[in-house]
Amino acid sequence: MTGPSKRDGFSSKFGVIAAAAGSAVGLGNIWRFPYVAGENGGGAFLLVYLLFILSIGLPVMLSELLIGRRAQKNVFGAFRSLAPNKPIFMAVGIMGVGAAFMILSFYAVVAGWTLEYTYLAFGNSLSGMSAIELSEFFKDFSGSTKGPIVWMTVFMILTAGIVIGGVKNGIEKYTKVLMPLLLVIIIILCVKSISLGGAEAGLAFLFNPDFSKVTGSVILEALGQAFFSLSIGMGVIATYGSYIQKKENLLYTAVSVSFADTIIAVLAGVAIFPAVFAFGIDPSSGPGLVFETLPNVFNHMKGGYLFSVAFFILLVIAALTSSVSLLEVVVAYFTEELKLKRKSATLIAAASITCLGVLCVVSDKAFKLFDWTSSNILLPLGGILIAVFVGWILQKTDVKDELEAHGGKAYFVNVLILVLKFVAPLAIGAVFLKGLGLL
Ligand code: PHE
Repeated sequence: MTGPSKRDGFSSKFGVIAAAAGSAVGLGNIWRFPYVAGENGGGAFLLVYLLFILSIGLPVMLSELLIGRRAQKNVFGAFRSLAPNKPIFMAVGIMGVGAAFMILSFYAVVAGWTLEYTYLAFGNSLSGMSAIELSEFFKDFSGSTKGPIVWMTVFMILTAGIVIGGVKNGIEKYTKVLMPLLLVIIIILCVKSISLGGAEAGLAFLFNPDFSKVTGSVILEALGQAFFSLSIGMGVIATYGSYIQKKENLLYTAVSVSFADTIIAVLAGVAIFPAVFAFGIDPSSGPGLVFETLPNVFNHMKGGYLFSVAFFILLVIAALTSSVSLLEVVVAYFTEELKLKRKSATLIAAASITCLGVLCVVSDKAFKLFDWTSSNILLPLGGILIAVFVGWILQKTDVKDELEAHGGKAYFVNVLILVLKFVAPLAIGAVFLKGLGLL
């Protein structure tokens, strides 16, 4: 066949939503959201979080989608082609690729833990352990090297195996199956959890806001969680946006993905808090909440075996559909900017990220540095620049054109631009300064 080669892309509306929601829904929702909400007052945190998703997350996600689709390029190429004379915005592209490397290298380590726990859950190996034993087991395991490196490598092979297939025949194909499966599992877990005695206390903790708990740091924590959870600020959504056909409605996509992400976080809370309260566990026990305390819950529950297997499979699926989006940012950059073939681009990217992952396993410092730098510096900075770019640099007619490409009318465009010009940069700026300890 001759002629210009067609760019790979999503083939259906459901494929777009599955892939983008797959990116957003991840360890951030099921592992991080419950413990951060637990540490920050439960219901009050949830309310502030929802407010940020709506007022800042949604506009920034829409901006990324439209940047990507307008440019039809990887995140670096997108800013270069839309603003050729403004190198500062090319930095967003570089930062995005760098952030993908960093996030994926520690994310794959945590994802590796979820594989180990799935394996243990299948073998029923955690049953019979006391709470203290479980906690020690987790610390020993996550502090060791061989097991975490092996599982992290397995996880990266799975991720690369999906990405190597391409956008339509890899990412879309798998996320279309995995995301509905994830939804089914989490709903079953919620039903089971709510049926436990004492569920009311857990639900009350999550849904009754106590406004005296809303402090400055709770607000900032909620904004950071919203960014990480929606996968915004570093080009994942822009890259996926570049694979979306013109006939798709970007507002609909952004709203569906943000809604799905939020619902899954809330459902994760509904699945976890009633169980935590029913067994008298402290909801603010931190990052170990899922790995240290839930197996204990499963041990004391009827049907705990199936519940734990289902739960850890859920975590693996959630992590995998997010990690493919992170790897795709790098692969799109390698294939389009460095002209590598998709196969070699995927292998080189996955292999180098695995090496960085090994560094995160052996060095707690590296793990924390990557986590901290990406969430507290790269994502907020990227978010500000993306908002400023669409609010101030792109022509309003171009923005409108992209939002109306499916044949509808974008009556909301003036409000959107107002938010992107002022609200989003100022609010994100506050988080950024807080992250640096300057506020
Ligand atoms: N949103 C993903 C999660 O909640 C993490 C992620 C962050 C993925 C940034 C891509 C980009 O787990």
